[in-house]
Amino acid sequence: MWAELLPVGRSSASGGYRRYAWTAADADCRAWFREQAEARGLAYEVDRNGNQWAWLGDPTAGDAVVTGSHLDSVPDGGAFDGPLGVVSSFAALDELRHRGARFTKPLALVNFGDEEGARFGLACVGSRLTAGQLTREQAHRLTDGDGVTLAQAMESAGHDPDAIGPDPERLARIGAFVELHVEQGRALDLTGNAVGVASAIWPHGRWRFDFRGEANHAGTTRLADRRDPMLSYAETVLAARREAELAGAVATFGKISVEPNGVNAIPSLVRGWLDSRAPEQHTLDTVVGGIEKAAREYADAHGIDLDVVRESFTPVVEFDHALRDELARILGTDTGLTVPVLGTGAGHDAGILSGSIPTAMLFVRNPTGVSHSPAESAAEDDCVAGVRALADVLEGLACR
Ligand code: GLV
Ligand code: MN
Ligand code: MN
Repeated sequence: MWAELLPVGRSSASGGYRRYAWTAADADCRAWFREQAEARGLAYEVDRNGNQWAWLGDPTAGDAVVTGSHLDSVPDGGAFDGPLGVVSSFAALDELRHRGARFTKPLALVNFGDEEGARFGLACVGSRLTAGQLTREQAHRLTDGDGVTLAQAMESAGHDPDAIGPDPERLARIGAFVELHVEQGRALDLTGNAVGVASAIWPHGRWRFDFRGEANHAGTTRLADRRDPMLSYAETVLAARREAELAGAVATFGKISVEPNGVNAIPSLVRGWLDSRAPEQHTLDTVVGGIEKAAREYADAHGIDLDVVRESFTPVVEFDHALRDELARILGTDTGLTVPVLGTGAGHDAGILSGSIPTAMLFVRNPTGVSHSPAESAAEDDCVAGVRALADVLEGLACR
């Protein structure tokens, strides 16, 4: 499976993945998912929100056990964030068939669309729509950096954008969703275990800061006469670091766009995107409030207009305790060891769906902790341990 998937959407320049929602690379990933489903005799379907499903058993029977993740990527992402969960789902099914497992509940494998939100700014669009956390109207207004709307992008990829919206009937069929994911930090590595279970996801969000000044000549405009938005942007980046450090949170300006983007022109607009996350909601509010306040002061000092827009937000997620404990029990029985239970600062579709259905996550060791980078890695033995763990969990949940 990896051999087929690895070249898809890979940049030869960076070695990273550029698999953005509703692009050609995304279509290739989706074609791969469909082939894997059909090769295993699973019933393949695309739901109203563009998520792909592969069913073993009757999808309408209820109490289904679902596993999967996403195939899209951040700009120059690693190979594992998302795909490890999808590949492991198919591999776990193969393992269970090899074991002769008898399913008493329907099983589904899923590829959620647009988890990273790399193209349209909002994370987890496929699961958010399904869970009713994003309306059709809001989704239709999402626009990429080239001015293409999500609705246009869906349509040109052959998906009906007018069909999108909440899907409570689908969610009502699911008894449990388990997402396997490469860990995106070193917490698991530090425990010495290959596989862990998730406890919680930090609240997190994305905010767009638009600093508007006045374009002018870089050579002839006196410093005192400038309204340069780059200055207030740069000061805000430093404020973000300061506020995050003070609060024990994280804050990152990782994306920026500058107009007119000329080396010899003072910018008219600097648009920077803040990603901030914290262990608790009140800390996140304090950090983002502090950054915005500082940004307004810097903007005023330079004669800059500032707009701040929240583009994406996910409240704290506490995974279903009963399901989490069930996973830990199943895995502990298998290995005789205590399975580490870990929180994370990374967002996931499982977090979005946790408001509607019981969800849980398995993490696979990431030896360096690096993620959202071409250098993301996981050892083959650990990936195999992840598949075995997922197979054990699915067997425990769907074959009893
Ligand atoms: C998704 O990977 C996120 O945490 O941003
Ligand atoms: Mn990611
Ligand atoms: Mn992911």
